Amino acid sequence: MGVLSSLLTSSIGRKILVALAGLLLCGFLIAHLGGNLLLIYGEGPFNRYAQGLEKNPLLPLAEVGLAGLFLAHIAVSLKLRHENRQARPASYAMQRSKGGRSWGSRTMLLSGLLLLSFLVVHVWHFRVQEHADGLYRAVMNAFQSKYYVLFYVAAMAALGLHLSHGFQSAFRTFGLSHPRLLPMIRKTGFAFSAAITVGFALLPLWACFWAKGPR
Ligand code: HEM
Repeated sequence: MGVLSSLLTSSIGRKILVALAGLLLCGFLIAHLGGNLLLIYGEGPFNRYAQGLEKNPLLPLAEVGLAGLFLAHIAVSLKLRHENRQARPASYAMQRSKGGRSWGSRTMLLSGLLLLSFLVVHVWHFRVQEHADGLYRAVMNAFQSKYYVLFYVAAMAALGLHLSHGFQSAFRTFGLSHPRLLPMIRKTGFAFSAAITVGFALLPLWACFWAKGPR
């Protein structure tokens, strides 16, 4: 608790907290995408994986940790944004009109809010609701609706935009801003965002248009 409260009491501490939570959430995204790719192997492997997670006694603890990471990342980044705007409203207005910032950077609040709405719908649908026929059929049936697929693909585009700025910004917060390192961090951030976005977006498209077999 001591570390957390000392992080929360300074602006740089809050930045570190947002960056750390963001990077840990990237770790969750990799694991989640890996699990979801089992959909391609069919009903048996995917449902066995989902049941394995469900039975794991550490799941409630992991879920509380995950919710804490999302909450910390969202609440502290909103607070930082508010502080920045209060500190320099004039330069903010100039920066916005002059451009010079990437699309990802300029749309962080919008992409973040879109992702939050996606998360509420997503967790409610797949995690909170009961699925009598198993999770595989619930996911595959949901993606038979083209509107639902469109909603997912749009949310994944917002995720890609958010990550394209967030990833490199987190590394800069940790002091990795040497001119020699920056191009590498930018390229890695771009490759990571693209891989996560395409990986997640392909799943609903695959389920709707290409998947065969029992649904
Ligand atoms: C095609 C894209 C996606 C599919 C098919 C999918 C599928 C699922 C499924 C089946 C579950 C319930 C079972 C489980 O916990 O594994 C779930 C839970 C969850 N998903 Fe996704 N997901 C997708 C994208 C995302 C993205 C992009 C995020 C985050 C930005 C996300 C965040 C979560 C969270 C937080 C949970 C609840 C985890 C828990 O409480 O155990 N998902 N997802």
